[in-house]
Amino acid sequence: MQREKSNSLHTEALEHLVGGVNSPVRAFKSVHGNPIYFEKASGAVVTDVDGNQLVDFVQSWGPLVHGHSHPKIIESVYEKMLNGTSFGAPHTGEIELAKRVKKRFTHMDKVRFVSSGTEAVMSAVRLARGYTGRDLLVKFEGCYHGHVDSLMVSSGSGLATFGIASSPGIPKDTVATTLIAPLDDDEAVDFLFEEHGDEIAAVVIEPLPANNGLLVQRHEYLTKLRTLCDQHGALLIFDEVISGFRFKEGSYGDISGVTPDITALGKVIGGGLPVGAYGARSEIMEKLSPLGPVYQAGTLSGNPLAMAAGIMTLDMLDNDAYDYLESLGQLLEECVEKVLQKHDYPMRLTRRGSLFWFSPSSAEPPSRADLIPSNAGILYSDVHRGLLEKGYMLAPSAYEIGFLATVHQEEHVRGMASALDEVLSSLEWSS
Ligand SMILES: Cc1ncc(COP(=O)(O)O)c(C=O)c1O
Repeated sequence: MQREKSNSLHTEALEHLVGGVNSPVRAFKSVHGNPIYFEKASGAVVTDVDGNQLVDFVQSWGPLVHGHSHPKIIESVYEKMLNGTSFGAPHTGEIELAKRVKKRFTHMDKVRFVSSGTEAVMSAVRLARGYTGRDLLVKFEGCYHGHVDSLMVSSGSGLATFGIASSPGIPKDTVATTLIAPLDDDEAVDFLFEEHGDEIAAVVIEPLPANNGLLVQRHEYLTKLRTLCDQHGALLIFDEVISGFRFKEGSYGDISGVTPDITALGKVIGGGLPVGAYGARSEIMEKLSPLGPVYQAGTLSGNPLAMAAGIMTLDMLDNDAYDYLESLGQLLEECVEKVLQKHDYPMRLTRRGSLFWFSPSSAEPPSRADLIPSNAGILYSDVHRGLLEKGYMLAPSAYEIGFLATVHQEEHVRGMASALDEVLSSLEWSS
């Protein structure tokens, strides 16, 4: 595929935008290429500025559960837009989207809309601290919660410990309020609660960690976190920015049989427009301004366009849509696994519903970040590059997951598997 225009736009962008991009993961750095400039996108397919068409399994990193420019979503946003793009005042769309969120996240009595997943988690953390009157957070190695200062922390040398900032610019005092544990490790969380139980405001976790591969957790482990929080008066925050609205059964909390105190949402809830949300039972939410003392606000929060996109997106996610996504997921798993085994390529496809990941080993997929083999990047970048050349786009990083949308068809899935077959046939690799 020719990418002359894309490459030349990237060169121009480098003069004006940092690294040519507005979010680092778009930079293709870890797969050794240049970002591709898109011109338009419809359904499952994006067209780049050089006229190449790609079947898209990134779907804007998750929000587009119904694919690109779905006519019904476009229409409902367009209709709203004619009446004004932002009121800075209440309107019915906020009530309607909140009702739909509460239907699926039944532990929520009240919802607050914001404009991104980062803002949702950041605000949920402030609320938890305000509610409990405590400062410490527990977070897990391998979970990402947006670029929230107190959660941009990775583990130091110990097993379970205060972490170190994963970016310059985060004050030491902020890092000092975050404890880090490995995922799927009972002893580590026991230790943290024994040492700091009465200072911990909240445990923050993606119940289905999907930012460092798909690191599926045992239900017993999530139950343990619930129990520890209850025993020590801490709140449990589930970050369902990725997993939210991806499952027919309801929230991922429902699937694992664990009810969090606060859930943070983003991505699908806005159907491709910028929305985040968090919600909890009334007693917690009423600590928020204007009812309570915990301040949080937003000029564009709950804006009518984003609410309209969210409402239509959720209304189209009926049982049939979830059943379809599951059947497509099963097909993807079958086809891709067959190809990987045929070539004895050290990868597995791990999947939950419409979320999937090329796990870099033939062994059981890992449940912790430190169990991901160190050659993950090398194994993946060959596959990524090869598939891209054949018209199938996966995320440009070995640690990012793929997304199925209701607009994907059997032919897209089978096509990707057979392209993978060709790519692996042409690769020279040794295990
Ligand atoms: C689990 C999770 N939480 C929070 C965020 C941050 O969301 P946003 O990029 O909308 O700020 C992300 C983004 O990928 C995420 O995956």
